[in-house]
Amino acid sequence: MIIPVKLKKKEDRSYKIIVEDGLIDRIPSLLNYGVRYAVIADSKVGKLYGQKLVKRLGKKAKLFTFPHGERSKNLFTVEALCKKMLKENFDRHDCIIALGGGVTGDIAGFVSSIYMRGIPYVQVPTSLLAMVDSSVGGKTGVDMEEGKNLLGTFLQPKAVYIDPLLLKTLPKKHFVNGMAEVVKYGCIKSKSLFRYISKNYEKILTLEPKPLNKIIVQSCKIKRDIVEKDEHEKLGLRMCLNFGHTIGHAIEKLTDYTILHGEAVAIGMVQMCRDKRLTELLKKIGLPTKIPKGIKKSHILEVIKKDKKKKGKKIMHVLVKKIGKAILK
Ligand SMILES: NC(=O)c1ccc[n+]([C@@H]2O[C@H](COP(=O)([O-])OP(=O)(O)OC[C@H]3O[C@@H](n4cnc5c(N)ncnc54)[C@H](O)[C@@H]3O)[C@@H](O)[C@H]2O)c1
Ligand SMILES: [Zn+2]
Repeated sequence: MIIPVKLKKKEDRSYKIIVEDGLIDRIPSLLNYGVRYAVIADSKVGKLYGQKLVKRLGKKAKLFTFPHGERSKNLFTVEALCKKMLKENFDRHDCIIALGGGVTGDIAGFVSSIYMRGIPYVQVPTSLLAMVDSSVGGKTGVDMEEGKNLLGTFLQPKAVYIDPLLLKTLPKKHFVNGMAEVVKYGCIKSKSLFRYISKNYEKILTLEPKPLNKIIVQSCKIKRDIVEKDEHEKLGLRMCLNFGHTIGHAIEKLTDYTILHGEAVAIGMVQMCRDKRLTELLKKIGLPTKIPKGIKKSHILEVIKKDKKKKGKKIMHVLVKKIGKAILK
């Protein structure tokens, strides 16, 4: 399945998202974005898939890894990767391959936008969250001690190659984490996707190819539609993607990031949607729906107010009154 992403402005930056079982083996024949390829992966994914991909690409590729996990998403990792790439003489004629989950995609995309004033990159997402969300849309970035994603750029990849078979090795907890974003798309934009997940969640959780591919393709299409219309989050359209995220982010902060992003978003969505079917579905998938013990609603509100005040913004809420349609308030 090929999903085109059309983005114009100064130059044509359109690209394709390809979703296909076994695609990773075909990647070498699809690439024509650079003379050499710097494959960036975290320590886990590097071992699982990075070495093999580099081998298939031959002499023109090198693997660059960093320790897995959100804690690596910082400027130190960016600098370390750039230094290693410099040592190997990578330059502007070359291309980066971001092979991994959202952490890798965000770091590698950020490196792409600053290395020698910018070199191209392609996304090869390996976690469900990255396949349905972070690899599409061109947001790159790293965290600072002061908070998450505070440094970053908008840079669209040259292509996104999604191989759902890679999810076989993804720990279940991380798969379930990514499912929160899929359910989110259903809530904000597609009643039929929500219904489909409700009907097929067991098959999806056991990675049955047809339903798995279907939810990935549907999610990418919904995100693509929004990004095409509001690439830089200026119209408020892209803001709908933040359904459940304002409360979710506050919960992540209050639990010192011990809770996964999707888990926190699931709790946040329940607070912003009164439809019982959402809570039921999240529970069936294995996601939490209640605010963790020890955290009061007043704590959450405080964090939200502080955050928004810092950004000088009005507090905008994404609400879902009817499954399939989000409203901003
Ligand atoms: N740029 C965006 O638009 C955007 C959107 C949403 C989230 N994000 C970012 O994405 C990040 C979270 O992404 P994530 O949940 O993918 O985290 P992650 O990249 O840390 O991956 C989760 C874990 O799964 C492992 N893993 C990944 N793929 C695997 C596979 N196929 N087999 C075995 N193990 C595998 C990783 O090594 C890691 O330990 C956050 O930093 C978040 O800010 C970015
Ligand atoms: Zn999210």
